[in-house]
Amino acid sequence: MTAPERGYADYQYEIYLRGLQDQLPPFTTDSGALEDVARERLGPRPYGYIAGAAGSGATARANLAAFDRHRIVPRMLRDTTARDQRTNVLGSELAAPVVLAPIGVQSLVHPDGELATARAAAATGVPMVLSTAASHTIEEVAEANGADGQRWFQLYWPHDDEVTASILARARANGYTTLVVTLDTWQLSWRPHDLDQAFLPFLRGHGVAIPLSDPVFRSRLPRPVEEDPQGAAMRWLPIFSGTAHTWDELGFLREHWDGPIVLKGILHPADARRAVRAGMDGIVVSNHGGRQVDGAVAALDALADVVAEAGAETEVLFDSGIRGGADVFKALALGARAVLLGRPYVYGLALGGAAGVEHVVRGLLADFDLTMGLSGCATIADIGPEMLHAGGGGEARR
Ligand code: FNR
Repeated sequence: MTAPERGYADYQYEIYLRGLQDQLPPFTTDSGALEDVARERLGPRPYGYIAGAAGSGATARANLAAFDRHRIVPRMLRDTTARDQRTNVLGSELAAPVVLAPIGVQSLVHPDGELATARAAAATGVPMVLSTAASHTIEEVAEANGADGQRWFQLYWPHDDEVTASILARARANGYTTLVVTLDTWQLSWRPHDLDQAFLPFLRGHGVAIPLSDPVFRSRLPRPVEEDPQGAAMRWLPIFSGTAHTWDELGFLREHWDGPIVLKGILHPADARRAVRAGMDGIVVSNHGGRQVDGAVAALDALADVVAEAGAETEVLFDSGIRGGADVFKALALGARAVLLGRPYVYGLALGGAAGVEHVVRGLLADFDLTMGLSGCATIADIGPEMLHAGGGGEARR
């Protein structure tokens, strides 16, 4: 997939030109306002599930505050009229260093859920990561993403090797190239937003489309899913949640996946070292958007040390707090190869299905493109640590 002919920043002119016909952009271009509108539209349960964080919310706040503390120092009189966001990630060329993060249960905010996200990802040329906790099947999402779509698969690692192998085989057979293994959510954290609503989507049959369509998991059930979907969901819960995995089990995944494997949720440099030693292809520095360990380090503050440990062989990606183009720039400057966009695209999905996701992604890529150009960077290779101010400052924001 290539960038638009005149560059991502063109979305800006498209919007201004529509204004001449008295049209406003279909959705707001401001990520804070986007969340506000989504809050108004969604009920308290879906909104709480998307926006909510672990415990006091300290980690989620710290993620955003860390971005504010890092500041870009723009450079002048460089020819950055034409920009190139292309980059190579895990052996594939990406048109831009942005991937849609795995987010489960997307039907909570829009009936098309992951299908809409898959269409928008294909239309904008960014890869998507399908969550194990999706509300549509691996096969349905692959079809919606199409022959040109770039898709990765995220694993919540089941405690049933045959089910795991079956799910991975389905993902490979359906064109998912990269495996993202999420390590930080083997058990759900204390989440007041969901607890106060007594709301766990999986118990209500949401976010279980992948196991419920899996032949091996289905063969384990005493009664067919169609007769007892609630019972099937209850049986899935302890298989994918509540018991920890350990480093020495990673070999199993390598045996059952012939593409790149990425560990998501690494924050400590020593864990990065272990990932390298285990022969992993990549790491996602992430604290799950502040949804798991309350009081955890801001993901951005953990990034540079992990990059230093990862060396040349293991690529480092980043998520947790990407809200605008400047955030993409800062994460890249601190050594991330690419970033995963999380909550903002789900708010876009809530407001407008595939069109909403497309708008959010195009807006982010345009904003990043403008940030690059105005900061004096024509290519991704130009974005290094010297582009950031050594000092800090700045207050937390949403
Ligand atoms: C997530 N995230 C997530 N991660 C994952 O590996 N599998 C999943 O199913 C989910 N589900 C999920 C649901 C919701 C509602 C949210 C907000 C997040 C975490 C996600 O991939 C990513 O790490 C965070 O969204 C990054 O934080 P921000 O940028 O959204 O704050």
